Amino acid sequence: MRQDILDYLTAHEGEFVSGQRISEALGISRTAVWKHIKVLKARGYVIESYTKKGYCLREGPELIVPEKIKAQVQTEFFGKQFIYLEKIDSTNTYAKKIADSGAPEGTVVLAEEQRGGRGRLDRSFLSPFAQGLWFSLILRPSFSPMEVSKLTLMAAVAVTKALHRCGLTECGIKWPNDILVHDKKVVGILTELHASAEKINYVVMGIGINVSLTKKMLPRELKRIVTSFAMENVEALRADILKTVLEELEHYYISVSENGFAPIIEEWKVLSCMMNREVEVSAIDRIFKGKAVGLDEDGNLLVETNKGTERVLAGDVHVRPLVMRRTN
Ligand code: BTN
Repeated sequence: MRQDILDYLTAHEGEFVSGQRISEALGISRTAVWKHIKVLKARGYVIESYTKKGYCLREGPELIVPEKIKAQVQTEFFGKQFIYLEKIDSTNTYAKKIADSGAPEGTVVLAEEQRGGRGRLDRSFLSPFAQGLWFSLILRPSFSPMEVSKLTLMAAVAVTKALHRCGLTECGIKWPNDILVHDKKVVGILTELHASAEKINYVVMGIGINVSLTKKMLPRELKRIVTSFAMENVEALRADILKTVLEELEHYYISVSENGFAPIIEEWKVLSCMMNREVEVSAIDRIFKGKAVGLDEDGNLLVETNKGTERVLAGDVHVRPLVMRRTN
């Protein structure tokens, strides 16, 4: 029915049609019309509404057109196999299934909406229809499973570079791989591995980028900690962001296979928004505070505390930057 309402409004684009007229044309109540329109608005359709005039469709959301992405993205293999879904529980879960059945390296699975988007540490990840880029990339690297946490750092570097190119120039990396603007999260990355003791079968790299999310769409607990391109007043098309991210990811992936991870670690430090800031580390068995001072060659965070330098291992902690105190 929602599609019928959309078709009706599209047929009358730019013209006001009353709720009564739509309800008669489609044989549903005016309340049902109103409820469907509310959902369409939440999905990014710009529908003007006035009590006496009715509804007028001004603009639809900018949807991803996979054929265009494949044709325009300047990569050799990232995004050349492209699975586009309107709705899914999680693109990572879907990508793992197709990777199990042999999907090639570089395959992208993108959904306009995730109903069960997943984050690190078993958290959920908000992914409403067409308000961001929710996608997973299948990789089949030849290096050891031990190096996967560094692949995640590589992804953070590549995505940060891409976001800078798209105008979000103030974003930086929070260890290990969240991307923040003014201490609010704009990107989350979830890397999942399928491997035996010595060999990686595949890695699914799930990336969620908040693009047109507005504060109104966020539940209360996320309002203080989440942001988006729109909330930072940076205009960019999702398709352009996606192409740029895939290009940067492929560039860095190839460079890692040629030069190893050492240059990535150096770039990560430059692009981080945590270096020399006070942080709180919540490890499984303890919480401590200190100053983030660097990364070691394995990508572990180095935190200077009053007891010396602590090495924070990838994956087992949560790091929260604390507000810097003014000294003058
Ligand atoms: C985090 O912030 O902890 C990581 C969030 C990762 C979200 C992305 S969205 C696409 C992919 N599918 C998922 O279910 N999760 C990742």
